[in-house]
Amino acid sequence: MTTSTPQSPSATSLSAAKRSMYCGEPRANNVGETLVLKGWVHLRRDHGGLVFIDLRDRTGLVQLRIDPDHVSGDGMAQAHHLRYEYCIAVRGQVVRRPEGSENPRLDTGAVEIVVADLEILAPSKPLPFQIDEWSPDTGEEIRLRYRFLDLRRPEMQRNFLMRHKLYTATRNAMNAMGFLEFETPILGKATPEGARDFLVPSRLSPGEFYALPQSPQLFKQLLMVSGYDRYYQIARCFRDEDLRANRQPEFTQIDVEMSFVDQDDVIEAMEALVAAIWRECLGEELPLPLPRMDYHEAMEKYGSDKPDLRFGLEIQDLSGVLAGSGFKVFDSILEKGGTVRALCVPGKAEAFSNSELRPDSKFSQNITRETGIKNYAWFKVNAEGKLESSIAKFLTEETLASICAHVGGKPGDVLFLVAGPEKKVVLDGIGRLRLKIGRENGFIDEAVAAGRKWAFTWVVDFPLFEYNPDEKRFEPLHHPFTSPHPGDLHLLDQEGAALDQIRSVAYDLALNGEEIGGGSIRIHRQDVQEKIFRAIGISDEAAREKFGFLLDALQYGAPPHGGLAFGFDRLLMLLLGEDNIRAVIPFPKTQTGTDLLTGAPSQVPAASLKELSIKTDVKKKEEKG
Ligand code: AMO
Repeated sequence: MTTSTPQSPSATSLSAAKRSMYCGEPRANNVGETLVLKGWVHLRRDHGGLVFIDLRDRTGLVQLRIDPDHVSGDGMAQAHHLRYEYCIAVRGQVVRRPEGSENPRLDTGAVEIVVADLEILAPSKPLPFQIDEWSPDTGEEIRLRYRFLDLRRPEMQRNFLMRHKLYTATRNAMNAMGFLEFETPILGKATPEGARDFLVPSRLSPGEFYALPQSPQLFKQLLMVSGYDRYYQIARCFRDEDLRANRQPEFTQIDVEMSFVDQDDVIEAMEALVAAIWRECLGEELPLPLPRMDYHEAMEKYGSDKPDLRFGLEIQDLSGVLAGSGFKVFDSILEKGGTVRALCVPGKAEAFSNSELRPDSKFSQNITRETGIKNYAWFKVNAEGKLESSIAKFLTEETLASICAHVGGKPGDVLFLVAGPEKKVVLDGIGRLRLKIGRENGFIDEAVAAGRKWAFTWVVDFPLFEYNPDEKRFEPLHHPFTSPHPGDLHLLDQEGAALDQIRSVAYDLALNGEEIGGGSIRIHRQDVQEKIFRAIGISDEAAREKFGFLLDALQYGAPPHGGLAFGFDRLLMLLLGEDNIRAVIPFPKTQTGTDLLTGAPSQVPAASLKELSIKTDVKKKEEKG
């Protein structure tokens, strides 16, 4: 047998030499040591006879000093040749920087490396955008197209180091609490979480499709039936839905399920996880237990089931005060069972000019665009504590005084009123307006400055169903495997009972106005599960076809169980103070679901489609292109 020995690089070759440490590590106590460092040219200052390089890797930057007195061979010529993002190796001595030239902003700022040997490992083409300096003018498209370069930016490195910490903190905490880690199938049958499925055609079963999991919901329930009490998974989920700043078509969950538990047990375990994450990732101690709020209170006070509690600005109900006020607009809405809700914005009357508050102003148009509110009324509280507004003339002095008293208006406050026939729509609109005002008028900044950085709340006692007026049927507010509240179970059997009055044992965790997690106690009885399917219009045959395996499993000693899933990426986004989920996912999709780096989704050869027994309108697209 012959073996070929690969040519070993010379002992002095820098490319073969082992790295002594990372670029971010040299410190004053390394002075005098000779180090081998490898990394990328982050910044280069060429002073003719002397070249300074900031050498970067994922741990940080260190300054290299290259001068003709110390560098060997053609090192000086090479140094002049260096450009942004060349990948290089150097050998050199750590020296203390001359007094006055230390850089306190760098961890390595007390020292520099006097280079003796330099080797270019790989040159770089001119960059499509700057890496050393973040420019807001660099469009996101170009950054996503060259994501491998974008990921080199120190800000991105910070994010992905934190992502790693979050995986580690999660696994440490879950393992310590006795949870078992599992993986569940990616190619499977649809699990409804309210979005469209991504489908994968099967070659072996022509005309049939797998669905990518919207979550591992049913598999984790089956694992409970199998007795694997305390399951967790850092799970990939896929949902074909409209994308937003906090949504991606594929994302990660910390998925959890437990047996023989009630809502308090799940909440307690999940609070321990969140506290461990805050401790390990941020070094902060969270006070436990976290606050809880009833769903109805969240909707009434904040117009949202994920209220941002960093600031107050609670919604107030003026329907009683305004009933029969004589002002036609409100009267006609209230007579038909509608509602009038208000926000009293303290001390901000001056922040909104009367012309800005006109219905045709840019400000009012923005309100419509951002909140869906078509019309609103406003009042300012003047120095005498009286309400002023273009509509004040339509209301009596007494009504104006009661409005002001009801909302607790003080001189300098401004009130926004929203009226409408549908309470849900009004609350949703004014809830969005509350957030817009909170954001744009300093309420959130003030809260953060005052140390109210993390406003958690559990939202509990969700309704089991909500009515979908488009489809004219009830739908589960969470998913159809959520347990009805035991006290409301009888309503499922009651002829003509209002399904939207049934409470569930479901809970969400909101942080700073984002839903970071949600879960429930599940149905573990087959008869109840079948009733729920019927209530949401799934026939017995359809239920059997879609979820027969679950209904079967529920007949074999299924333990009572419940769980929750956190949105891993959303959690990370908040931990890092990022406002877009794409900043925390290494290779994200755009708002339209495309991957600008690889070009996915893309057409596939006709032969591949044929193999899958799929016919498409490919020709048309080719012609267009
Ligand atoms: P749910 O659908 O509420 O529950 O999802 C749980 C959490 O996942 C996050 N999330 C998302 N993050 C990014 N992009 C998306 N498209 C996206 N969709 C959801 C949210 C959300 O709170 N199986 C249930 C959990 C359970 O009942 O145990 C489920 O998936 O932060």
